[in-house]
Amino acid sequence: MPIFSNKHILLGVTGSIAAYKAADLASKLAQSGAWVDVILSASAQKFITPLTFQSVTGRRAYTDQDLWGNEAHVLHVGFGKTADLLVIAPCTADTLAKLAQGIADNLLTVTALAAHCPLVIAPAMDGGMFTHPATQQNLETLKKRGAVIVGPAEGHLASGLVGAGRMSEPSEIFGWLRIALGKNGKLAGKKIVVTAGGTQEALDPVRVITNHSSGKQGYAVAQAALDAGAQVCLITAPTALTPPVGARVVQVKSVGGMLDAVLSESGDALIMAAAAADFTPQTVAKDKIKKRDGIPQIQLTAAADILGAVAARQPSLFRVVIGFAAESQNLLEHAAEKLKSKKLNMIVANDILASDAGFAVDTNRVAFLFANGTQEILPLMSKTEAAEKIIEHTSRLLE
Ligand code: CTP
Repeated sequence: MPIFSNKHILLGVTGSIAAYKAADLASKLAQSGAWVDVILSASAQKFITPLTFQSVTGRRAYTDQDLWGNEAHVLHVGFGKTADLLVIAPCTADTLAKLAQGIADNLLTVTALAAHCPLVIAPAMDGGMFTHPATQQNLETLKKRGAVIVGPAEGHLASGLVGAGRMSEPSEIFGWLRIALGKNGKLAGKKIVVTAGGTQEALDPVRVITNHSSGKQGYAVAQAALDAGAQVCLITAPTALTPPVGARVVQVKSVGGMLDAVLSESGDALIMAAAAADFTPQTVAKDKIKKRDGIPQIQLTAAADILGAVAARQPSLFRVVIGFAAESQNLLEHAAEKLKSKKLNMIVANDILASDAGFAVDTNRVAFLFANGTQEILPLMSKTEAAEKIIEHTSRLLE
């Protein structure tokens, strides 16, 4: 099910050149299943039209004219009652000041006063206006009241200045909206550590031994945990992916680095989706190994078993530990052995030889095995859906 299905989101757009980016945000929200009602301020309409938003949301967009139209006595109150979330992006210094003071002189600000849902604000203004004590004080007031402030980002501003004032990218705002909507989810107040990606074991300053893991399944698990309201630490080996917004990211390279990172965390659950190396070069050459010196003989040694090290320190680190088993044969049998030997609460088994599952692809075919002997074999599904199922079980195991 799309993440924002049945969610009513109000998107307020105010007068900044960044208003064009709000169309992308509206489109992303609509594509994620939300009912998006857009309210444009008078100055927003100098930059962008209601038609732009209507075209991407499939719903009418509202302006101050509607404040005095037929629905006058109900529109803002109705919005206030049904909205799951109000996001104002871009939010000018003027609208920020009005929100902080409770001024309600246009459809957007009157709606903000009537709405009791979470408020997310993405400021956009020139650098000097953002750092002005009046703006900073207004932001503080709004934060104290529980508003989530996203950005602004640093960069080139319309005035030619370089500094903080650019509206955050729609993808970043979208990530924070997920967090705002998920904050009372079933993992609210829980800390989940997720590992992802394939570790890289250095041979010399240039070369590494690694594996085909893309990190997709682990990143999807981290996102699903965030959507369920968890505080997430994502320990990741190098991948081409952008980490989910809101996760605390710890970048590691080798299995040794991942081991240190995992052992320095503790929390409610550890989900070890990473493809950590089993073997690592015994020595790492200080200088690049030269071709003229002949074909190198690489001596490998056993890498640390991270889950083994965690098991040795339990129960002090994590209440629930979930591992993965990437297998090319006897899937369930091997997974069951690992579940036991690594003292896991649950193991996610996947057949890496299936073309529609395992490394790099967006789908997965997984089976869950539990410490109490039960099993759940799932059909082909997206890695996002598999991640949601893993998170449902994590929450159940933590009960
Ligand atoms: N794992 C780990 N430390 C390692 C290697 C793997 O903690 N050095 C974790 C993985 O993150 C995964 C689980 O152990 O959650 C199983 O990994 P897998 O590679 O399937 O199994 P191994 O124990 O490494 O055994 P084998 O490679 O022989 O199948």
